[in-house]
This record gives sequence, C-alpha cells and structure tokens, in this order.
Amino acid sequence: MSTPIDFHSGMNQGVAPVTYGTGDRPPRGNYARAGADYTCAQDWAVYTDADHDTYRRLYARQLQQLPGLACDEFIAAVRQLGAPERIPRFDDISERLHRATGWQIVCVPGLIPEEAFFALLAARKFPVTDWIRKPEEFDYVVEPDVFHDLFGHVPLLFDPSFADYMQAYGAGGLKASRLDACELLARLYWYTVEFGLIDTKQGLRAYGAGILSSAGELRHSVTSPEPQRVAFDLQRLMRSRYRIDTFQATYFVIDSFRQLFDATAPDFTPVYAQVRAEIALSGEIEAGVVLPGERRFRV
Ligand code: PHE
Ligand code: FE
Repeated sequence: MSTPIDFHSGMNQGVAPVTYGTGDRPPRGNYARAGADYTCAQDWAVYTDADHDTYRRLYARQLQQLPGLACDEFIAAVRQLGAPERIPRFDDISERLHRATGWQIVCVPGLIPEEAFFALLAARKFPVTDWIRKPEEFDYVVEPDVFHDLFGHVPLLFDPSFADYMQAYGAGGLKASRLDACELLARLYWYTVEFGLIDTKQGLRAYGAGILSSAGELRHSVTSPEPQRVAFDLQRLMRSRYRIDTFQATYFVIDSFRQLFDATAPDFTPVYAQVRAEIALSGEIEAGVVLPGERRFRV
C-alpha cells in the first residue's frame, strides 16, 4: 500500500528492501531495473491481455461501488485515470496530474525504502508499482500492485489540499527519519492516506487508498457496525497500533482535508516527544480499543 517501509539506506543497490512485518518474503519486483531513486520506466509492453483484463475487472468492480461510499473528491477525479479497459500509461496520467496540481507519477518496481519514498513525495512525485496481481490474487494481494497504487492513490492527488498534504508528508518523513520517528509517522500514513474516512453532509465516506481499492473493505469501513470510528486526533492516532492482515478495527474520521492539513502543519518534533512520553506512561492503543469519553461515529 505504498506504506513507508523499514530500510535505512537511501540508495538502490539492486536489492529489494525489507518491509514492515512481512517476515522473510522479499518484495516482488525486479529492483535491478531501478535507478538510484528507485524509479524506472513503466514496462508497458510486458502486460499481457490477461493483465489488462485483470485491471479492467478490478476497475469495474470498484467503480460501481463508489457512490455513497467514496468521497466526492475521489469520484470527481477517478476518470482522470483514463480508459478503464486497460492498464494506463503512467506518462499520460502524469501529464494531466501535473497540469492540475503539479504532481507527477513515477514508476517503481514495487515497495521502496522509506527514505526514497519520502524524497519522492517531497518532490511531488508519487511512486506507482507497474506489475499487476495474478488472477488468483484478484480479491487480495499482499503487496501494492498497479491497481492499488493507481486507483487507490492517484485520484486524490488531483485535489489541491490533499496534494499539499502528501507533499508535506514526504518532507515530514525525511525529518522523521532523522528523529527516528518513522514508526509513529507511518501510523499517520496508515490511518489517513490508506484507511482514512471523512465526515460529510451526506454521511461518512472513504478517502483512504487501501479502502478505495479494496473490494470488501470499502463497504465495511463505511457501513459495518463492527469497527470503531473515532475523530481524528494526531496524538491519539500516533499511539494507535494497526493491523495489516485483516480489515481495520479502528478508523479515524476527518472533517475535511483542510483540517487534516492544518492539524499536521506544525513541527512534529515536540509531538513525537509527547507521544513517546504518553506511550511510556499509558502504553500504545490496540486496534479496536476506544478510550473512555472518546467520541465515536455511529453508522
Ligand atoms: N508537520 C510535520 C513535521 O514537522 C510534517 C508533516 C506534514 C508530516 C503532514 C505529516 C503530514 O514533521
Ligand atoms: Fe498504498
């Protein structure tokens, strides 16, 4: 899910990076193709008819679920991905995106080390994996593929506030690396960029890429009575652990992208110190746990 990953070298040495919590399985993708910044050319010619068909079917399945579940900004921008019948050429999307918000998309072989990831975001470049899942992984793929990265992440980069948030996140990530705070910052990415919900006049809607590209979790996150939904609070969020292997047990709800941007604009140096102190005192918060007095959103 383009989640920041735990590998402390900024340079591609032709070897795949290690990812958080995934054991010894190396990431898929040929990292020898990539340059020092981990980007490479999209290998469009290698896609087979079956690959394009997988993309087409994934796109169609998600598109029909969007009304009433995805936020308006996402629905308005999803067509910018171009023809839904085949895997797009990244350069075409990148050109439209650059005109809209100054962002570009760049191709990567798969998950990349966190510092390389942060550096790209800080330069308003979003890394997109070019390989696509196999037909037997149609419902669930353990690593982000081209469908997740494009369909999940790219439409909101057409929204000016969200686009600015993503760049600020990248710059903040470079700083967090120096402060040894990447694990806390990764929680912010997880609970906003990947699994965020937004409160609108019409009700709760999804804006996180991990939800928007998921067949089952999109409806679950917005309508199931099972998970907890709590108001976005930066320090509370940074104390909160998350699950990578099931639907989320807790979602954080923002009021607007502006709120998210403003809440994350201050220097996080003192925030990390406060969160660490709070964790030392009261511990981390497990996924699915709600604190006494905490406001919950009901569905
Ligand atoms: N304000 C944050 C910092 O000082 C940067 C940031 C912005 C981080 C937006 C995440 C998201 O580190
Ligand atoms: Fe992602």
